[in-house]
Amino acid sequence: MFDGEGCTSPERNIVLTGFMGAGKTEVGRILARSMRRQFADTDILAARAARMSISAIFERFGEERFRELELSVARELAMQRKLVIATGGGLPFNGKALDELKVFGFIVYLEWPYEALWERISKTSRMRPLVRQYGMNGLRELFAKREQRYRDAELVVSANGLTSKAIARVILHAFKS
Ligand code: S3P
Repeated sequence: MFDGEGCTSPERNIVLTGFMGAGKTEVGRILARSMRRQFADTDILAARAARMSISAIFERFGEERFRELELSVARELAMQRKLVIATGGGLPFNGKALDELKVFGFIVYLEWPYEALWERISKTSRMRPLVRQYGMNGLRELFAKREQRYRDAELVVSANGLTSKAIARVILHAFKS
């Protein structure tokens, strides 16, 4: 059914990964618009499936339930084509979620130094459950634990100092070449 890992089909999904605050959703929307592709966001789809916000899922049912929803969203998206997909920051660490998306996906890591991420995270009014749980220093440790796996992406974009539009352009160029 799939061409297998390493395929270069122009119909591949573009999968944006990275820590909270990396701008996956904003860059994903811009990219999808410019490529005339459909945009999917795993957080939005998980919240829609549960009919409540991500924070409410964490509060009422715990992180484990959120991860189950996230995994099933990833499985469904992995079967589709020509999507631009923004993933939640923890998706690459959720069982086989990233492996499934990788089969027919171009995996991109939006790389930022932690300090810049923290600045971006703390500026938003939306309080993410893990930000509440970990705080600035706990989150830094989580980032350090995660970074290596993020870097495993097919494309690593140094996002610091670039606008979302510029990041989208870099991704598009790399995807086409
Ligand atoms: C999470 C990141 C969030 C969301 C959930 C857990 C994580 O997504 O999936 O709160 O584990 O890093 P964003 O990266 O879009 O904030």
